[in-house]
Amino acid sequence: MKFQTLAALCALVATVHAHSDDGVFGRRHAQLAQKRQASSSSSTSTSSSSASIASSTATGAVNNAATAASTTAAAVLPSGVPATGANGVPPLSQITSGMPTGAELAATTTYAAGTTPTAVSGAPPLPSTFVFNANNWPSPDVPPPTDSTQVQEWMKELDGVTIPDIAPTKDGECATDPTAAANAQQNGWWTCGGWTRDTDITVCPDKFTWGVSFDDGPSVKTQELLTFLEQKDITATFFVVGSRCVERPNLLIEEYMAGHEISVHTWSHRPLTSQTTEEIVAELGWTREIIKTLTGVTPVTMRPPYGDIDDRVRAISLAMGLTPIIWTRFNGFAFDTNDWQVAAGNVNGIQQMTTFENILGNATNMDTGFVVLQHDLFEITVDLAVGYTIPAALSHNPPFTLKAIGQCNSFPISNMYLETNTQKAFPYPQNVVRNSTSSTSSSSNGTSSTSGSNAGAAQKGSAVSSRNFGAILPSVAVSAAVAFFGALLL
Ligand SMILES: *[C@@H]1O[C@H](CO)[C@@H](O)[C@H](O)[C@H]1NC(C)=O
Ligand SMILES: *[C@@H]1O[C@H](CO)[C@@H](O)[C@H](O)[C@H]1NC(C)=O
Ligand SMILES: *[C@@H]1O[C@H](CO)[C@@H](O)[C@H](O)[C@H]1NC(C)=O
Repeated sequence: MKFQTLAALCALVATVHAHSDDGVFGRRHAQLAQKRQASSSSSTSTSSSSASIASSTATGAVNNAATAASTTAAAVLPSGVPATGANGVPPLSQITSGMPTGAELAATTTYAAGTTPTAVSGAPPLPSTFVFNANNWPSPDVPPPTDSTQVQEWMKELDGVTIPDIAPTKDGECATDPTAAANAQQNGWWTCGGWTRDTDITVCPDKFTWGVSFDDGPSVKTQELLTFLEQKDITATFFVVGSRCVERPNLLIEEYMAGHEISVHTWSHRPLTSQTTEEIVAELGWTREIIKTLTGVTPVTMRPPYGDIDDRVRAISLAMGLTPIIWTRFNGFAFDTNDWQVAAGNVNGIQQMTTFENILGNATNMDTGFVVLQHDLFEITVDLAVGYTIPAALSHNPPFTLKAIGQCNSFPISNMYLETNTQKAFPYPQNVVRNSTSSTSSSSNGTSSTSGSNAGAAQKGSAVSSRNFGAILPSVAVSAAVAFFGALLL
């Protein structure tokens, strides 16, 4: 089913906003992009935000070579980057906001209801064919209402769980909320300093292993990406937006059936720390619901949009059975390819590849593997992935091993879904402490429900301190947890 043109444009505006996964600078520029997009209102493609700002704000990570460049793309290509795009992708110099775009690609395979998935052992047959009914789903790209019977039912999952009494941030940004920023470490606020907890998955344990992730789809060129990944025999983790799943149900099903990991990335892509507890439950709950409706299974992981998580958002997510997965920060450098910045017109393809080369360079210096943020939302971001970033990583010396994030952490894919998980308590049961009697969660405060293995100080984001499952757990006070994680790793 397709939404009306106006709704599609609204979705575009929302998704341009949705691209700014990396903090204040990016988000403001994305907002600029969406304003211009709204005023021009001529495009119905999600391939770029606006040609008019393509050259105006190249203030991202520009290296000396790129700054000096005035001639050909080849002259400024970071080392190791293919000179021309693999797989029919245009030259890097042409990958820029406003570039010509192709038609949307539909799913190549449509699976009949009742088909048994082969990629996920023990998975239930696919549910009956999805028929969209606007009465059954929240409006796309806006926060779902919290007074629905569904949301009120999902709120009960928080019963007996201590949700830290942290006030919603102003808008999920450090600069606009000095009070929240001052408490960022105490509250484990990732956005503002990269603070993580033991329950966050932020790396792959093995050095030179890249945890591949794509956010914000399924979208116009997701099919191109799926075909490419299949050719390369790579599985990825897709952090899907509920509003996109409703639009493109067959693509979500194809991702799932191909053995990619499906994870929750909210319904409307708002910064979750800015939302009330009920709003967060609605965002996560509706996304979980559409994934389950389409595939028959429920993810046990989530990624907060913009990486915007604190201890309140964590506790809510964990109470709903969703373990947070963020991308790696190493020495303060977040492994965001900035592919979305190209679509937003803030940087060009060559500058994006410089950022990418910095990721690979830093990854080479890490003791562990790493998780990288990319997007399948725009044609541009898919072009960069299939034409440049993934080929560059595959031909890197020494080579990187590319895996989905659960896979790189040695989780069988069946354990990534509630219905097929053989560890029914997965993933962090000891962190969701429930009283036997139900208490009202919203009124409780005090320590995080993630007390226990991660009750200590928040950890500054880095591969060394971003604890990852049993691989590099802190040695103190967690021996029981280590034993438990050990079992989970099977
Ligand atoms: C469990 O109940 C006790 C007594 O009411 C309370 O002190 C404690 O905070 C509760 N724990 C949780 C996790 O809700
Ligand atoms: C790591 O990333 C930074 C940018 O944040 C870059 O300046 C540096 O050169 C990178 N290190 C390597 C070894 O590539
Ligand atoms: C909740 O927070 C208030 C204010 O910080 C504090 O006075 C009260 O003791 C706390 N209640 C619990 C159960 O922790």
